[in-house]
Amino acid sequence: MNALTTRTNPSKCNGCNACAKVCPMLVLEVVDGLARAIPGREDKCFRCGHCVMVCAQDAMRVDGLDPSDFSEALPWGFDANALDRLMQSRRSVRRFLDRPVDRTLLDRLLEMSATAPMGWPPHSTSALVLTGPAEVRRLTTVMRTGYATMDRMTRNMMGRAIFRLVAGRDDWAALRDYVLGLTREANEVFDRTGQDKMLYDAPAVILFLGNRTCLSFKDNALLVTQNAMLAAHALGLGSTMIGLVPPIVERSRALRRRWGIADHQVVLAAIVVGHPAVTFVRVQHRRLADVRYV
Ligand SMILES: Cc1cc2nc3c(=O)[nH]c(=O)nc-3n(C[C@H](O)[C@H](O)[C@H](O)COP(=O)(O)O)c2cc1C
Repeated sequence: MNALTTRTNPSKCNGCNACAKVCPMLVLEVVDGLARAIPGREDKCFRCGHCVMVCAQDAMRVDGLDPSDFSEALPWGFDANALDRLMQSRRSVRRFLDRPVDRTLLDRLLEMSATAPMGWPPHSTSALVLTGPAEVRRLTTVMRTGYATMDRMTRNMMGRAIFRLVAGRDDWAALRDYVLGLTREANEVFDRTGQDKMLYDAPAVILFLGNRTCLSFKDNALLVTQNAMLAAHALGLGSTMIGLVPPIVERSRALRRRWGIADHQVVLAAIVVGHPAVTFVRVQHRRLADVRYV
């Protein structure tokens, strides 16, 4: 890791110690009323920016973090019930109006998704946005072919044994018990009616890609994805996470090349996005599988 320098503006710092207290890597200390990096610990800084965000005097700077990326936090007083209402009312939307999603809305959604935490800053997650029916339909076609091929290959014992070996026990069980049946049906519906039951004729699809060289890149991408779905809902859009997308795009050389997905990038999640053509008038109180306090 690069040696980083945490810089304190001596004319602003009042030695309050807030930065030293918040630093998760114990990089900072206050000496003679002034915050400074502890000699020898500077390279432990991982650029979380907390020292900058906690400094009421705006005295802290961290090399590599752009000061213009920081702005005043809104005064606390957030309504937890409003957040609960937002989260309760988010639904997986699978019916969309035949209307494109404005680029400004998609930009805003992605900006909001980037508020997610990450194992080690900065973000390791990238977004690839497919807009327009041609690119979305292209993905549907590759998915339809991919799942039909898997279905055919696993019709005999030999094929099933190979899949079990390659996919591993858990992934094979999911494929056998859920995925193959669902995608077979989706392919049948498509052949009969032209209806897309994989991507729901969505006007936009967002793929979230992780950088495999980064710490916790899979978890990072899933957290961004959840934020993106909540942001979509807050912006009046509908979305659904489509677990059927990553295994197909991940293995499609043609799509990876076409969409410029680099070798170090792993396709980890995908959501369809559009203007909802369905209104949910009820919410369901759901519980976790189990809650125990010990
Ligand atoms: C990991 C994951 C994968 C999913 N994959 C699909 C999918 O391939 N197709 C689909 O229609 N919905 C998919 N969903 C949406 C779920 O079916 C949906 O979240 C669930 O039924 C609960 O409904 P809600 O999102 O409206 O609360 C997926 C959700 C998750 C979390």
